[in-house]
Amino acid sequence: MNHTVTPERIMQIGMGFWASKTLLSAVELGLFTTLGHEELSAAQLGEQLCIHPRAGDDFLDALVSLGLLDRTGNGDGARYRNTNETGLFLDKHSPAYMGGILEMANARLYGFWGNLTEALRTGRPQNEAKIGGDFFGALYNDEARLGAFLAGMQGLQFGNHSALLEKVDLSGAATFCDVGGANGALCALVAQRYPQLHATTFDLPAVGDFARRHAEAMGVANRVTVVDGDFFVDKFPQADVIVLGNVLHDWDEEGKQALIDKAYDALNAGGRLIAIENVIDDDRRHNTFGLLMSLNMLIELEGGFDYTGAQFDRWCSNAGFELTEIVPLAGPGSAAIAYK
Ligand SMILES: C[S@@+](CC[C@H](N)C(=O)[O-])C[C@H]1O[C@@H](n2cnc3c(N)ncnc32)[C@H](O)[C@@H]1O
Repeated sequence: MNHTVTPERIMQIGMGFWASKTLLSAVELGLFTTLGHEELSAAQLGEQLCIHPRAGDDFLDALVSLGLLDRTGNGDGARYRNTNETGLFLDKHSPAYMGGILEMANARLYGFWGNLTEALRTGRPQNEAKIGGDFFGALYNDEARLGAFLAGMQGLQFGNHSALLEKVDLSGAATFCDVGGANGALCALVAQRYPQLHATTFDLPAVGDFARRHAEAMGVANRVTVVDGDFFVDKFPQADVIVLGNVLHDWDEEGKQALIDKAYDALNAGGRLIAIENVIDDDRRHNTFGLLMSLNMLIELEGGFDYTGAQFDRWCSNAGFELTEIVPLAGPGSAAIAYK
């Protein structure tokens, strides 16, 4: 067999930021929202989005070639429209809009990742904290930005939440608690799916009203309780199922163990802890997104890191759990489940 060695993959990854920033700028400009359900020419889009004529065709056709726009016709007759994916997830009028996380990536992470080498050398965060700022503190004092951030996280977990409902049977549970449940998106989905179940979303007080409004909007306010609290200070609400979604990876090993211990204490006998994260494969070779997410924790936080199923198993066993398993969800996401 003739294995030709080419630099193609190296160049694709090395210049990967070209494609990434093209998408992030499209989100920043509101391209997908402007298109909505319409088909527009490059000239119309250029005028509405204030794109210089020199840049428009290449920008739009690059997005076509990336599979992020559809186009009919060529040249002056070309008309652009959203793909099924961009129409669903990147049009602000869609209920499944997940552009908030990309807006945040564009405004913050894209620049901070430019300092990855410094993070690798120092082990220190490279975000606002580096110059004495407090992104998360400021975020929780700004209702509009907090709402966008929570919606962004909801978008990021949308695929995992849908897959969880398909793959993990909760029909035997009477009570469910999402710790660090943000705007209560998962609790609302679970309450809609399981009429027998009462769900509680537990998060910091600043987040509570977002969750209350979301439960109302989803028509499940009578079966979703919103509890305000601090998960390092307060006891977790008692439940048959406790979820920690993208929470454990925010903390160092001591913090992770403390949260798992508290989950064990709050679970009813026979209950389950479900961590929904980009769990890294035990070999640490394959889940690229999970490994890069862990580097993102290095950029953003003092001690956070993503972890393997084997690490999750060890911490859960320390806490007293009987058994753990990993259930793959959407793409790089998994449910790491520990049984009491
Ligand atoms: C990365 S977000 C994950 C949100 C959601 N579970 C998900 O899967 O998308 C972390 C959540 O933990 C919450 N959180 C952070 N520190 C907390 C604390 N000390 N007590 C309670 N919630 C906290 C945040 O407000 C945020 O909603």
